[in-house]
Amino acid sequence: MNFSDTQIVNSIMTDHDFETTDQINDADLIFINTCSIRDNAEKRVRARLQEFKRYKKQKPGLIIGVLGCMAERLKEQLIEQEKMVDVIVGPDAYRDLPRLLNVAETGQKAINVILSADETYADISPVRIDGSGVTAFISIMRGCENFCSYCVVPYTRGRERSRDPQTIVDEAAALFMEGYREVTLLGQNVNSYRCSDDSGFPELMARVAAIDPALRVRFATSHPKDLSDNLLQTMAAWPNICRSIHLPVQSGSDHMLKRMNRRYTRNWYLNRIQAIRQFLPDCALSTDIISGFSSETEEDHQQTLDLMREVGYDYAYMFKYSERPNTLAAKKYKDDVPEEVKSRRLREIIDLQQELSLLSNQKDVGKTFEVLVENESKKSKKELSGRNSQNKVVVFPRINHQPGNYVRVKITACTPATLRGFIVDE
Ligand code: 5AD
Ligand code: SF4
Repeated sequence: MNFSDTQIVNSIMTDHDFETTDQINDADLIFINTCSIRDNAEKRVRARLQEFKRYKKQKPGLIIGVLGCMAERLKEQLIEQEKMVDVIVGPDAYRDLPRLLNVAETGQKAINVILSADETYADISPVRIDGSGVTAFISIMRGCENFCSYCVVPYTRGRERSRDPQTIVDEAAALFMEGYREVTLLGQNVNSYRCSDDSGFPELMARVAAIDPALRVRFATSHPKDLSDNLLQTMAAWPNICRSIHLPVQSGSDHMLKRMNRRYTRNWYLNRIQAIRQFLPDCALSTDIISGFSSETEEDHQQTLDLMREVGYDYAYMFKYSERPNTLAAKKYKDDVPEEVKSRRLREIIDLQQELSLLSNQKDVGKTFEVLVENESKKSKKELSGRNSQNKVVVFPRINHQPGNYVRVKITACTPATLRGFIVDE
């Protein structure tokens, strides 16, 4: 989401005659787009701000702006704590950046952290300068009103709102014309996407998929409580909607899920997994897991490991619980699992996922997949890297293909993270 927001900021700044540079010493202005989801993310931002002090000493007129969730969460406080900061801008205030910079140029601190009920930046075409030119994110909605008890997002990104569907379809079609071959539709909870005519996310996705069979469509993230059969049927009807669903479970224990305010049970979640398997037998599954949430017992933790085995996730993002100020959990529930217990449980979760990812990849050895080439392999110019519909990274000898091509690759080997093979059927 921040990646996508940065491209919107880039567009606004380009319209006001600013240019980007990859030489930090040349910059007259540095923006840092921030995340507040865990304390670690904020710590990294603060460390980066310390580094910027050096550039400010060299160039006294240098303006430093903090954008995004940390700006929204801390507001003026951040300027009091980090004196090098000149501009603070929340996620709904990016259109105000040029004015804020004018204020900052006079030597005053400039702040806009007003959250909006309707800002979607629908009319702003993101400037995508640093991607592969093959895959792009399209933001389709903003904000979140789910209020999972541990989560800061509803406070930093505000009310949930959907972007006008025609602007989304137009953006995807323009990207396809430019040579892009994959779009990922982004929102905190795409299942609650609503157009003004009350059609929902499945209809929107079908419209994007209809642009061209050679345009792949992905989405993130869906909330298990809202994952409908209609969405799964729509995916099944369009071969270019990718066979991969990210369905964050957070915990396998009903006691934890209730405390997390996730509004589904373990059984409900497993039933949704069954529905996915039924409608989309070749669909990959990934998830998010939090270890060591308030009052989590060894039994709760075992239930998470057990659910991971039962689902057999292909991939997972795994985190230690990090208490965020002013969330429901911070107000109501003690952060009472000792740090070393959180770490040990996280390690067990990561180790298990390594096994599951390897198992999942081993099952693919011998199969042939259509792969969208994205770039040269990190290790060798003679190899290309792309992904299959299931979102798995596939590496193979280049021959004469380019990023943006579709190739058929037969898999001959794997690690937990990568499939390897060679091109067939040319
Ligand atoms: N501590 C740890 N992980 C968190 N997440 C969200 N809030 C927290 C928190 N306070 C994780 C969830 C979510 C992902 C984006 O980040 O797993 O799905
Ligand atoms: Fe946070 Fe829950 Fe919203 Fe995801 S759905 S952004 S975890 S409140």
